Amino acid sequence: MTETPAPTVGVIVVAAGSGTRLGRSHPKAFVHLQGRTLLEHALLGVFGMSEAVQVIVVAPEDRVGEARAVAADASAAREALGPVSVVAGGTTRQQSVDRGLAALDAEVEIVLVHDAARALTPSDLCDRVVAAVRATGAGVIPGLAVVDTIKRVDASDLILDTVDRAELSAVQTPQGFPRAVLVAAHDTLADEATDDAALVAAAGHAVRVIEGSPLAFKITTPNDLERAGLLLAPAPGAIIVPRIGTGLDVHAFSDTAELWLAGLNWPGERGLSGHSDGDVAVHAVCDALLGAAGLGDIGGIFGTSDARFAGAHGDVFLTETLRLVAEAGFAVGNVSVQIIGNRPRFAPRRGEAEALLAGLLQAPVNIAATTTDALGFTGRGEGIAATATALLVPRAPLTRPTVMRPVLSLDV
Ligand code: CTP
Ligand code: MG
Repeated sequence: MTETPAPTVGVIVVAAGSGTRLGRSHPKAFVHLQGRTLLEHALLGVFGMSEAVQVIVVAPEDRVGEARAVAADASAAREALGPVSVVAGGTTRQQSVDRGLAALDAEVEIVLVHDAARALTPSDLCDRVVAAVRATGAGVIPGLAVVDTIKRVDASDLILDTVDRAELSAVQTPQGFPRAVLVAAHDTLADEATDDAALVAAAGHAVRVIEGSPLAFKITTPNDLERAGLLLAPAPGAIIVPRIGTGLDVHAFSDTAELWLAGLNWPGERGLSGHSDGDVAVHAVCDALLGAAGLGDIGGIFGTSDARFAGAHGDVFLTETLRLVAEAGFAVGNVSVQIIGNRPRFAPRRGEAEALLAGLLQAPVNIAATTTDALGFTGRGEGIAATATALLVPRAPLTRPTVMRPVLSLDV
């Protein structure tokens, strides 16, 4: 039996940033886009390369386990042959790249550094960067000609001059280098650079630009995420059958518990009994989501015998439910919740609760509350009930969007 030779190309996918400018409650690489995390999208591109490569994902320290699961899924989906590992990142991009470099196998000769935030980067761009590094023995980065006219402006927004755009390139990742050159540049330069080419060039090495891809744009702002969503959207006329699910939960008041409802703590209110924190709204939402995905119910997934969920709050349940729903192939469309009870008075904190649950589920959440006109167990003040309805949308099939390469043009 002949052994598969170890890959000579390593791809470091940096995904340890927080995504401040995107402004979500999850780190950027774990934000969902059409039912997959941005990290999974990026890795599907990398694992689609034409040769076996060593892939190293650099993830936020508290997300290493989650990143391992995402990487394993993407590798399996693409039937990738090379090894994949996950390491914890640092506080700056450069530190995160350093952590990735330290995890390279001995056989790796060419290293690509890629931003997970460039989630739709096509596999063929990664292949072209490798081929160009092999052909030139030097650093190679993808870039696009700048089409806008660029002005230099002063602090009071007055135009100083026009920059000659013929000399400009908007550069992207993956950026490829001979391993020794990249490692030496990282070891000797402490400057915080926003890309690796800047470090390698500062160390005195030539770096060339090859034609990039319009799909390799960096998802930085909410507008970028929306654009990425449109690129992945189903073809016009495609028939999409959404899935709907409902959930119901009831807990009795308890004088020994504090109240948790819709993910919020309610000081001074009577609490609810229950194995976890008794949050009926969150539990109803989980059942609605699991039901829509055909995954059973909350009791079956988060068993009362499982110590991990004793006393757990809504974020734990909702994050894990979202992960399962995405793994089953669905994106959350929206969730609607109805809370039924005399207390607490919900309206003053409705916006806060909706924002919290929407952030955790990465989808719109509406929460209504009502009393039952003194009728029934909620009317008698014995407990609180909640119902929820969730809509799921099947995620896009495993293909990459294709966009024509732009014709390089320097016309005015
Ligand atoms: N990155 C990283 N470690 C850091 C900072 C950034 O691995 N300490 C990664 C990001 O995960 C991203 C890439 O570097 O894939 C490009 O960075 P950027 O787009 O700036 O992402 P963030 O730093 O997460 O976003 P923001 O600057 O808006 O906070
Ligand atoms: Mg950043």
